[in-house]
Amino acid sequence: MLTRRALLAGGASLAASAATGPRPVRAAARRAPLRDLFRLGVASGEPAPDGVVLWTRLATDPPALDGLGGMPRRQVSVDWQLARDEHFRHVVRHGTETARPEAAHSVHVELEGLEPGAEYFYRFRAEGGLSETGRTLTAPAPGSRGRALNLSFTSCADYQTGWFTAYRRMADDHPDLIAFLGDYVYEYGDYEHRVRDQAGGECLDLAGYRLRHAQHKTDPDLRAAHAIAPWAVVWDDHDVRNAWAGDVPRRRRAAAFRAYYENMPLRRAQRPHGAALRLHRSIRWGAVANLHLLDTRQYRDPYACTGDSDTVGPDCAERLDPGRTILGPEQQTWLDAELRDSHATWDLLGQQVFMMEMDWARGPAEGWSNEGWDGYVASRDHLAATIHAHRRNAVVLTGDVHSHWAGQVGRDHRDPGAEPVAVELVTTSVTSAGDGRDEYPDTRNLLAENPHVSFFNGRRGYVRTRITEREMTVDFRSLAYVTRPDAPAYTSGSFVIEPGDPTLNPA
Ligand SMILES: [Fe+2]
Repeated sequence: MLTRRALLAGGASLAASAATGPRPVRAAARRAPLRDLFRLGVASGEPAPDGVVLWTRLATDPPALDGLGGMPRRQVSVDWQLARDEHFRHVVRHGTETARPEAAHSVHVELEGLEPGAEYFYRFRAEGGLSETGRTLTAPAPGSRGRALNLSFTSCADYQTGWFTAYRRMADDHPDLIAFLGDYVYEYGDYEHRVRDQAGGECLDLAGYRLRHAQHKTDPDLRAAHAIAPWAVVWDDHDVRNAWAGDVPRRRRAAAFRAYYENMPLRRAQRPHGAALRLHRSIRWGAVANLHLLDTRQYRDPYACTGDSDTVGPDCAERLDPGRTILGPEQQTWLDAELRDSHATWDLLGQQVFMMEMDWARGPAEGWSNEGWDGYVASRDHLAATIHAHRRNAVVLTGDVHSHWAGQVGRDHRDPGAEPVAVELVTTSVTSAGDGRDEYPDTRNLLAENPHVSFFNGRRGYVRTRITEREMTVDFRSLAYVTRPDAPAYTSGSFVIEPGDPTLNPA
């Protein structure tokens, strides 16, 4: 006897198979298997000494405008395997998860009890189809010495603006960990001048954000970067809405947060609760490094002075207000404790916006960014004092500005003689701002006016680092173009940083 449930499932299967012609009613009632379910690839993230998160999201038709990727409104059973070898001869774990329509058929497998400092391979199977294989790593055991961290990071991947070649070049390097520092998607509608077409208009609701994420994951270069190494992600403004600072309606924020969680290899601790999602957390890499991931978006005070994200000049008193915060009190207290209790050689601060002081106005005029830490001077001074007090070797990893920069964060920004407390490495974008140039006409003036800033490159790309207890080497990787596919990457700047001395030494 056909139950209502079987009829509904049969109807969904018939709809899904309409393109391939009619099927016998009995086969439909048995549910024809869904085909090509793994078009969004696989990912892993949040490595710990004993575990990692495995991710996939099922979609047969990623550009479907309802954001559900062409999937029927029913649960799908997804098997997963974890092995020590890429041929899956030594499977060490396996299991089954349920992909649910209310989670856009995303699957998060949070593994525990694995070997520290180990390489693993994983894959998923559903409805007779097999995903591609992903490679992932667990972090070294707590306090363990002698293990390097090969970390690459980037930001700002605007699909319409160009090809995601930077992701491919990151994957080519086989890093241990990829940090993504915000603007994984852009919420914008269609540009008049665009390199690639996207589906859907501006992201305003859950369907819109889900669709935009699905669109991105159809990109083979991005999928390659996810499949090669675990990721650690934080968001910036465009993951929700341009330049947002608490002023986005809760409904839209909740939709963006939910789609973000569904589409990223995050832990359950990062599951959103309405318009709140705790994104700040630390990832520990043995004795070498603690990576503290910060959220400078969700808890920041409104923009100073002009009320928006403009660069302001000559100055205004509000940005110097000692009560202003970019992290919010809870996150700042958490970060204070992380730095106080850290025993790693390096404390990496993965975050969104320019931290070092930067005068963006040419000549004797001054122009401070309202969006970066220059608009929240009290927060920066507090963090610098904390780094100094606990004698941490801090390196700030930054995105947002669509160009490579390197420089130093000062201890007291009202005292030009105060020594620096940290190096800041700012990555360029994957695509945002288009092909770019190595230098612009006023680049040298800008560097001359900001002597604590030592490097600029205006192309697209990523930053590649190798971090040991003895030194951190940094390669700024650049691409000659992104408006065409497949550009080779070149190193536009190389530096070495040594513990105890926040100085960028030429490599
Ligand atoms: Fe951006």
